[in-house]
Amino acid sequence: MWERFIGEKVEEIRETVGDGRAVIALSGGVDSSVAAVLAHRAIGDRLHAVFVNTGFLRKGEPEFVRKTFGEEFGLNLHYIDASERFFGELRGVTDPEEKRKVIGRVFIEVFEEVAGEIDAEFLIQGTIAPDWIESRGKIKSHHNVGGLPERLNLKLIEPLRDLYKDEVRELGRELGLPEKIYSRMPFPGPGLAVRVLGEVTPERIAIVREANAIVEEEIEKAKLKPWQAFAVLLGVKTVGVQGDIRAYKETVAVRVVESLDGMTASAMAVPFDVLQRIAFRITSEIPEVGRVLYDVTNKPPATIEFE
Ligand code: XMP
Repeated sequence: MWERFIGEKVEEIRETVGDGRAVIALSGGVDSSVAAVLAHRAIGDRLHAVFVNTGFLRKGEPEFVRKTFGEEFGLNLHYIDASERFFGELRGVTDPEEKRKVIGRVFIEVFEEVAGEIDAEFLIQGTIAPDWIESRGKIKSHHNVGGLPERLNLKLIEPLRDLYKDEVRELGRELGLPEKIYSRMPFPGPGLAVRVLGEVTPERIAIVREANAIVEEEIEKAKLKPWQAFAVLLGVKTVGVQGDIRAYKETVAVRVVESLDGMTASAMAVPFDVLQRIAFRITSEIPEVGRVLYDVTNKPPATIEFE
């Protein structure tokens, strides 16, 4: 089935783009990765994949994406490190919606500049069926580069429009993507910026990046398969004891949820020894953190992310 789908989409993209050029915002997530590799099969180097480092990516992610797509898949990859710009624009911003808006705006500005230089006619997007079916009731302003095609005067190509997430994962496997990509957990567009509550600074992001990596590693080691597993820096300091000295340090919340589509979710009954290992590692490997809490709230009433 996938062979035929791939053949048809490759042909479609080839016909539509003709001798022209196309751009894609590659995030390293499942959807944009699959769309990029599919389009690359169709038009090769005339696909320009733009990968923006916002400063809010997971541990090792910029290196991983550059190696996988730039070297292994041979994509025409434009790597843009815009992290200083994002941190600068977010200075003093603490409101969750405001943070999302600033990140969305800066992302579009950065992408616009790069796409302008490439002088492309088409924009490939990894939109999948739920993205346009559920308009999500606008609980959070999601950052999925909406509005880009109009602003850039680009013609939109959405090869994955009719697929659901599990199908996109299958397709990714069929296209030879590494399992780390096709089976990965969802990660929000604004990235780790919405996993530090309050102001986003390089120091606070560094803490949460490390904590997220520990949570992901331990959940994987325990062979658990949640919808998502992550850590959040709460911005609350609590008292602890280190040796026989009083400590006053940051608190991290751990969230692990099961879900089918992200619309509703339940907190996962992670075995206690796994939780304790996570807490031990976070407090011993991250000197700024003195306490770890586990979030047992379902969605609703909470959302999956904290902001
Ligand atoms: P919430 O927090 O609204 O999240 O319960 C539902 C799912 O969506 C992910 N999420 C995002 N995905 N852009 C995305 O593509 C975003 O801005 C964004 N914000 C949240 C979240 O991780 C969860 O899987």
